[in-house]
Amino acid sequence: MAPESSIDLAALGEDFSRDPYPVYAELRSRGPVHRVRTPEGGEAWLVVGHEAARQALAAPGLSKDWRNASEAMSVSNFVASTHMLNSDPPNHTRLRKLVTREFTPRRVASLAPRVRELTDGLLAEMSAAPDGRADLVDSLAFPLPMAVICELLGVPFLDRDSFRRWSNEAVACNDPVRREAAAAASLGYLEWLLEEKRRRPGEDLLSALIRTRDEEGDRLSREELLGTVWLLLVAGHETTVNLIANGVLALLRHPEQLAALRADLSLIDRAVEEMLRYDGPVETPTYRFATEPVEIGGTVIPGGGELVLVALADANRDPGRFPEPDRFDIHRPPGGHIAFGHGIHFCLGAALARLEARTAIRGLLEHCPELALDAHPASLIWHEGMLIRGPRRLPVRFGTRPPVLADRSVSTTAV
Ligand code: HEM
Repeated sequence: MAPESSIDLAALGEDFSRDPYPVYAELRSRGPVHRVRTPEGGEAWLVVGHEAARQALAAPGLSKDWRNASEAMSVSNFVASTHMLNSDPPNHTRLRKLVTREFTPRRVASLAPRVRELTDGLLAEMSAAPDGRADLVDSLAFPLPMAVICELLGVPFLDRDSFRRWSNEAVACNDPVRREAAAAASLGYLEWLLEEKRRRPGEDLLSALIRTRDEEGDRLSREELLGTVWLLLVAGHETTVNLIANGVLALLRHPEQLAALRADLSLIDRAVEEMLRYDGPVETPTYRFATEPVEIGGTVIPGGGELVLVALADANRDPGRFPEPDRFDIHRPPGGHIAFGHGIHFCLGAALARLEARTAIRGLLEHCPELALDAHPASLIWHEGMLIRGPRRLPVRFGTRPPVLADRSVSTTAV
């Protein structure tokens, strides 16, 4: 099938960031592969639909290595981009193996009590607001994953505000100059961070990554360490923030689902899977480049480094895979969504993300029996670009707490 002329997603402006699902669904009804102009302004091939997305994510002819990008793409020289998510086998296999030696399920599971403690602390702080209102992104969805990844890596001293700014600009901004500047600004900072850790090693993941060696004595180079720390810090919070924010927003917009979850909190794991499917935080993962012609659903994407984007957001709303895909239903049987990707780059932090989301959302519901949205959904401002999906702020109301009575025997009437 001959490719159609380019579809201009940039022209859709904010409407596309706010609700890209109908646009993807319309494209899917026409076929799995489309030529598009992205909101960032470049040309790309966009893959939609569940089967086609899985095929693209696993296609060996689609490289994650920027050195395979066509000349039309401005190739990033950012040194901290040397990491597994930008690599192909065999280097990907090597980098992932070195990191998984240390980033183990056991290390993640051991964080559970601390995640709970951090969540309780943040919720206590939030509920102290005298007007009973908060921005959930600022109060919980951002600081929790950020604190957790800092503890995991052993960098509690991280300058979180600066890092949040650089990281936001690097992953969710349509201006390439600002994007590169943000990435570059974080480099010097990461170098300093590594030096600090080398001087004062501990039991944390970063110290372990610095000293780890495999059976053959292979280890992460300086550049690979910088890249891996950057990847873990960015992937460790940009995504989970938006899983919590999008997930809570979905609950608040579906009161019957919220009530069902409140009535039976053991449904929390299912609810989190449905949040990942219904409005996951990674709309299209980072770039892939076609190194050879790749055929998907009858369309041939030419080789030569053409940019390919895979719409996970659409794959997870494909009616061919999920009945009534636009319905948010926490009772839906879990499984099948590809919010964490598929194939060799499947998310390394999936278990950590699930742990954080379920702890945060469960804690929030327990803490705030009157939780409600404090803004019209249409007024929310969404992250720019096609990588990350989530609102910049999520205003909520949680009601003011009754004053604590000094002597309960004085009054038995409920306040
Ligand atoms: C809800 C939260 C998260 C979502 C939806 C998510 C999603 C994804 C996706 C879709 C990929 C594959 C990208 C591709 O194929 O191009 C990925 C890879 C990755 N993620 Fe996550 N992620 C989340 C949280 C995390 C966390 C908390 C960490 C670490 C602390 C993490 C670390 C990574 C790493 C290291 C990779 C690269 C794996 C590789 O290239 O082999 N992610 N993630």
